[in-house]
Amino acid sequence: MSAPLLSVEAISKRFGGLQAVKDLSFRLEEGEILGLLGPNGAGKTTAFNMIAGFFRPDEGRVLLGGRNVAGLKPWDICKAGIGRTFQLSKPFGDLSVVENLMVGGFARSSDRRRIRTKAEEIAVFLGLEAKAETEAHNLTAFDRRKLELGRALSTEPRLLLMDEVVAGATPSEAVEMVALVRRVRERGVSVLIVEHVMKVIMALSDRVLVMDRGALIADGRPQEVVTSPDVLKAYFGERYVVPRA
Ligand SMILES: Nc1ncnc2c1ncn2[C@@H]1O[C@H](COP(=O)(O)OP(=O)(O)OP(=O)(O)O)[C@@H](O)[C@H]1O
Ligand SMILES: [Mg+2]
Repeated sequence: MSAPLLSVEAISKRFGGLQAVKDLSFRLEEGEILGLLGPNGAGKTTAFNMIAGFFRPDEGRVLLGGRNVAGLKPWDICKAGIGRTFQLSKPFGDLSVVENLMVGGFARSSDRRRIRTKAEEIAVFLGLEAKAETEAHNLTAFDRRKLELGRALSTEPRLLLMDEVVAGATPSEAVEMVALVRRVRERGVSVLIVEHVMKVIMALSDRVLVMDRGALIADGRPQEVVTSPDVLKAYFGERYVVPRA
Protein backbone atom coordinates (compact mmCIF):
# COMPACT_ATOMS: atom_id res chain seq x y z
CA MET A 1 0.00 0.00 0.00
CA SER A 2 1.37 3.43 -0.88
CA ALA A 3 1.75 6.10 1.79
CA PRO A 4 -1.22 8.46 2.16
CA LEU A 5 -0.82 12.09 1.11
CA LEU A 6 -1.52 13.24 4.66
CA SER A 7 -1.12 11.23 7.81
CA VAL A 8 -2.06 12.90 11.08
CA GLU A 9 -0.63 10.95 13.97
CA ALA A 10 -1.92 11.50 17.50
CA ILE A 11 -1.86 15.30 17.53
CA SER A 12 -3.01 17.11 20.66
CA LYS A 13 -3.42 20.75 21.65
CA ARG A 14 -4.19 22.21 25.03
CA PHE A 15 -5.17 25.80 25.82
CA GLY A 16 -4.55 26.27 29.54
CA GLY A 17 -6.88 23.79 31.23
CA LEU A 18 -8.80 22.99 28.06
CA GLN A 19 -7.88 20.00 25.91
CA ALA A 20 -9.02 21.37 22.53
CA VAL A 21 -7.71 18.41 20.48
CA LYS A 22 -6.84 15.07 22.00
CA ASP A 23 -4.90 12.33 20.31
CA LEU A 24 -6.33 12.94 16.82
CA SER A 25 -5.23 10.56 14.08
CA PHE A 26 -6.46 10.16 10.52
CA ARG A 27 -5.23 9.70 6.95
CA LEU A 28 -6.12 11.44 3.74
CA GLU A 29 -5.42 9.67 0.46
CA GLU A 30 -4.21 11.38 -2.71
CA GLY A 31 -7.21 12.65 -4.70
CA GLU A 32 -9.61 12.41 -1.79
CA ILE A 33 -12.11 14.97 -0.53
CA LEU A 34 -12.30 14.47 3.22
CA GLY A 35 -14.97 16.27 5.25
CA LEU A 36 -14.47 17.26 8.89
CA LEU A 37 -17.66 17.73 10.90
CA GLY A 38 -18.41 18.28 14.55
CA PRO A 39 -20.49 20.44 16.88
CA ASN A 40 -19.31 23.90 17.99
CA GLY A 41 -16.12 23.77 20.00
CA ALA A 42 -15.30 20.21 18.89
CA GLY A 43 -11.75 21.19 17.93
CA LYS A 44 -12.09 21.32 14.14
CA THR A 45 -10.45 24.69 13.61
CA THR A 46 -7.73 23.88 16.13
CA ALA A 47 -6.93 20.65 14.26
CA PHE A 48 -7.01 22.55 10.97
CA ASN A 49 -4.63 25.17 12.35
CA MET A 50 -2.16 22.53 13.50
CA ILE A 51 -2.11 21.01 10.01
CA ALA A 52 -1.78 24.44 8.38
CA GLY A 53 1.11 25.43 10.66
CA PHE A 54 -0.68 28.11 12.68
CA PHE A 55 -0.31 26.10 15.90
CA ARG A 56 2.44 23.69 16.78
CA PRO A 57 0.89 20.48 18.16
CA ASP A 58 1.78 19.76 21.79
CA GLU A 59 2.27 16.18 20.70
CA GLY A 60 2.07 14.10 17.55
CA ARG A 61 3.13 14.33 13.92
CA VAL A 62 1.65 15.67 10.68
CA LEU A 63 3.15 13.79 7.74
CA LEU A 64 2.76 15.18 4.24
CA GLY A 65 3.97 12.63 1.72
CA GLY A 66 5.87 10.96 4.56
CA ARG A 67 7.63 14.16 5.75
CA ASN A 68 6.83 15.57 9.20
CA VAL A 69 5.67 19.17 8.75
CA ALA A 70 4.34 19.67 12.31
CA GLY A 71 5.71 22.88 13.76
CA LEU A 72 6.90 24.32 10.44
CA LYS A 73 5.95 27.94 9.86
CA PRO A 74 2.91 28.63 7.64
CA TRP A 75 5.08 29.80 4.74
CA ASP A 76 7.15 26.59 4.81
CA ILE A 77 4.00 24.48 5.09
CA CYS A 78 2.68 26.32 2.05
CA LYS A 79 5.89 25.57 0.17
CA ALA A 80 5.64 21.94 1.23
CA GLY A 81 2.30 21.82 -0.63
CA ILE A 82 -0.49 22.64 1.82
CA GLY A 83 -2.75 25.55 0.87
CA ARG A 84 -5.55 26.95 2.98
CA THR A 85 -8.50 29.29 2.87
CA PHE A 86 -9.46 31.50 5.80
CA GLN A 87 -12.94 31.59 7.28
CA LEU A 88 -12.84 35.37 6.97
CA SER A 89 -11.47 36.15 3.55
CA LYS A 90 -9.17 39.15 3.55
CA PRO A 91 -7.91 39.85 0.07
CA PHE A 92 -5.68 42.84 -0.61
CA GLY A 93 -8.51 45.31 -1.22
CA ASP A 94 -6.56 47.74 -3.36
CA LEU A 95 -5.19 45.04 -5.61
CA SER A 96 -7.11 43.68 -8.57
CA VAL A 97 -8.42 40.12 -8.72
CA VAL A 98 -5.51 39.03 -10.90
CA GLU A 99 -2.96 40.78 -8.69
CA ASN A 100 -4.41 39.03 -5.63
CA LEU A 101 -4.09 35.75 -7.51
CA MET A 102 -0.46 36.49 -8.31
CA VAL A 103 0.65 36.82 -4.67
CA GLY A 104 0.63 33.09 -3.92
CA GLY A 105 2.47 32.35 -7.15
CA PHE A 106 5.68 33.69 -5.65
CA ALA A 107 5.75 30.58 -3.45
CA ARG A 108 6.57 28.60 -6.60
CA SER A 109 8.34 30.92 -8.97
CA SER A 110 9.94 34.36 -9.33
CA ASP A 111 9.03 34.69 -13.01
CA ARG A 112 6.39 37.46 -13.07
CA ARG A 113 5.13 36.55 -16.55
CA ARG A 114 4.59 32.94 -15.61
CA ILE A 115 2.92 33.97 -12.35
CA ARG A 116 0.59 36.38 -14.16
CA THR A 117 -0.39 33.76 -16.74
CA LYS A 118 -1.18 31.31 -13.94
CA ALA A 119 -3.20 33.97 -12.09
CA GLU A 120 -5.25 34.72 -15.22
CA GLU A 121 -5.88 31.03 -15.66
CA ILE A 122 -7.16 30.77 -12.08
CA ALA A 123 -9.45 33.79 -12.62
CA VAL A 124 -11.02 31.92 -15.55
CA PHE A 125 -11.31 28.77 -13.45
CA LEU A 126 -13.22 30.74 -10.79
CA GLY A 127 -15.48 32.40 -13.36
CA LEU A 128 -14.00 35.77 -12.41
CA GLU A 129 -12.35 36.57 -15.74
CA ALA A 130 -14.73 39.48 -16.42
CA LYS A 131 -13.64 40.94 -13.07
CA ALA A 132 -9.94 40.24 -13.46
CA GLU A 133 -9.04 43.92 -13.23
CA THR A 134 -11.62 44.78 -10.55
CA GLU A 135 -10.16 45.83 -7.21
CA ALA A 136 -10.95 43.21 -4.60
CA HIS A 137 -12.78 45.61 -2.27
CA ASN A 138 -15.37 46.10 -5.03
CA LEU A 139 -16.25 42.40 -5.21
CA THR A 140 -19.42 40.89 -3.76
CA ALA A 141 -19.03 38.75 -0.63
CA PHE A 142 -19.32 35.56 -2.67
CA ASP A 143 -16.81 36.66 -5.28
CA ARG A 144 -14.43 37.42 -2.42
CA ARG A 145 -14.94 33.85 -1.20
CA LYS A 146 -14.09 32.54 -4.64
CA LEU A 147 -11.04 34.80 -4.71
CA GLU A 148 -10.03 33.35 -1.34
CA LEU A 149 -10.17 29.88 -2.88
CA GLY A 150 -8.17 31.16 -5.86
CA ARG A 151 -5.52 32.67 -3.62
CA ALA A 152 -5.02 29.27 -1.99
CA LEU A 153 -4.86 27.59 -5.42
CA SER A 154 -2.27 30.10 -6.61
CA THR A 155 0.27 28.53 -4.24
CA GLU A 156 -0.18 25.28 -6.24
CA PRO A 157 -1.00 23.05 -3.27
CA ARG A 158 -1.16 19.26 -3.28
CA LEU A 159 -3.55 19.49 -0.36
CA LEU A 160 -6.09 22.25 0.10
CA LEU A 161 -7.56 22.94 3.55
CA MET A 162 -10.88 24.77 3.47
CA ASP A 163 -12.68 26.20 6.51
CA GLU A 164 -16.40 26.96 6.19
CA VAL A 165 -16.41 27.90 2.52
CA VAL A 166 -20.16 28.40 2.22
CA ALA A 167 -20.68 30.41 5.44
CA GLY A 168 -23.02 33.25 4.50
CA ALA A 169 -23.58 31.97 0.95
CA THR A 170 -27.04 31.68 -0.59
CA PRO A 171 -28.21 28.16 -1.56
CA SER A 172 -27.36 28.73 -5.22
CA GLU A 173 -23.94 30.10 -4.30
CA ALA A 174 -23.38 27.03 -2.13
CA VAL A 175 -24.18 24.82 -5.13
CA GLU A 176 -21.69 26.80 -7.22
CA MET A 177 -19.02 26.44 -4.51
CA VAL A 178 -19.60 22.68 -4.30
CA ALA A 179 -19.09 22.42 -8.06
CA LEU A 180 -15.91 24.49 -7.83
CA VAL A 181 -14.45 22.30 -5.08
CA ARG A 182 -15.17 19.21 -7.20
CA ARG A 183 -13.28 20.81 -10.07
CA VAL A 184 -10.40 21.64 -7.74
CA ARG A 185 -10.11 17.93 -7.04
CA GLU A 186 -10.23 17.20 -10.79
CA ARG A 187 -7.15 19.40 -11.08
CA GLY A 188 -5.37 16.85 -8.90
CA VAL A 189 -5.64 18.70 -5.59
CA SER A 190 -6.76 16.73 -2.53
CA VAL A 191 -9.10 18.51 -0.13
CA LEU A 192 -9.78 18.60 3.60
CA ILE A 193 -12.93 20.60 4.23
CA VAL A 194 -14.32 21.82 7.56
CA GLU A 195 -17.94 22.77 7.22
CA HIS A 196 -21.06 23.19 9.33
CA VAL A 197 -23.47 22.84 6.44
CA MET A 198 -24.20 19.12 6.44
CA LYS A 199 -25.58 19.18 2.89
CA VAL A 200 -22.31 20.51 1.55
CA ILE A 201 -20.24 17.90 3.36
CA MET A 202 -22.56 15.13 2.21
CA ALA A 203 -22.45 16.30 -1.41
CA LEU A 204 -18.69 16.66 -1.56
CA SER A 205 -16.96 14.22 0.70
CA ASP A 206 -15.68 10.78 -0.20
CA ARG A 207 -15.20 10.21 3.51
CA VAL A 208 -16.21 12.09 6.63
CA LEU A 209 -14.52 12.53 10.01
CA VAL A 210 -16.52 13.65 13.03
CA MET A 211 -14.93 15.26 16.08
CA ASP A 212 -16.53 15.85 19.44
CA ARG A 213 -14.85 17.41 22.48
CA GLY A 214 -11.42 17.24 20.90
CA ALA A 215 -11.56 13.59 19.86
CA LEU A 216 -12.42 11.71 16.70
CA ILE A 217 -15.73 9.87 17.13
CA ALA A 218 -16.37 8.67 13.57
CA ASP A 219 -14.49 8.08 10.31
CA GLY A 220 -16.31 6.57 7.37
CA ARG A 221 -18.52 7.04 4.33
CA PRO A 222 -20.87 10.05 4.64
CA GLN A 223 -24.09 8.02 4.83
CA GLU A 224 -22.75 5.67 7.49
CA VAL A 225 -21.29 8.44 9.60
CA VAL A 226 -24.36 10.67 9.81
CA THR A 227 -26.56 7.82 10.99
CA SER A 228 -24.13 6.55 13.60
CA PRO A 229 -25.55 6.75 17.16
CA ASP A 230 -22.33 8.34 18.52
CA VAL A 231 -22.57 11.12 15.98
CA LEU A 232 -26.27 11.75 16.57
CA LYS A 233 -25.58 11.85 20.29
CA ALA A 234 -22.78 14.41 19.84
CA TYR A 235 -25.02 16.67 17.78
CA PHE A 236 -28.38 16.29 19.40
CA GLY A 237 -27.76 14.78 22.86
CA GLU A 238 -28.43 11.42 24.42
CA ARG A 239 -32.21 11.57 24.31
CA TYR A 240 -32.35 12.00 20.56
CA VAL A 241 -30.92 8.58 19.86
CA VAL A 242 -33.62 5.95 19.62
CA PRO A 243 -32.46 2.79 21.38
CA ARG A 244 -32.12 -0.22 19.12
CA ALA A 245 -34.80 -2.85 19.76
N1 LIG B 1 -6.63 30.32 20.81
C1 LIG B 1 -7.40 29.72 21.74
N2 LIG B 1 -7.22 29.95 23.04
C2 LIG B 1 -8.00 29.35 23.98
N3 LIG B 1 -8.98 28.47 23.69
C3 LIG B 1 -9.21 28.21 22.39
C4 LIG B 1 -8.44 28.82 21.34
N4 LIG B 1 -8.90 28.35 20.16
C5 LIG B 1 -9.91 27.51 20.45
N5 LIG B 1 -10.09 27.41 21.79
C6 LIG B 1 -11.06 26.53 22.46
O1 LIG B 1 -10.80 25.21 22.02
C7 LIG B 1 -12.02 24.49 21.80
C8 LIG B 1 -12.08 24.02 20.36
O2 LIG B 1 -12.26 25.16 19.53
P1 LIG B 1 -12.27 25.11 17.94
O3 LIG B 1 -12.33 26.51 17.47
O4 LIG B 1 -11.15 24.27 17.47
O5 LIG B 1 -13.65 24.36 17.68
P2 LIG B 1 -14.46 24.18 16.31
O6 LIG B 1 -14.79 22.74 16.22
O7 LIG B 1 -13.73 24.80 15.19
O8 LIG B 1 -15.80 25.00 16.65
P3 LIG B 1 -16.76 25.87 15.66
O9 LIG B 1 -17.63 24.86 14.98
O10 LIG B 1 -17.54 26.69 16.65
O11 LIG B 1 -15.91 26.65 14.73
C9 LIG B 1 -13.15 25.44 22.17
O12 LIG B 1 -13.53 25.16 23.49
C10 LIG B 1 -12.50 26.81 22.06
O13 LIG B 1 -13.10 27.72 22.94
MG1 LIG C 1 -14.17 26.40 13.84
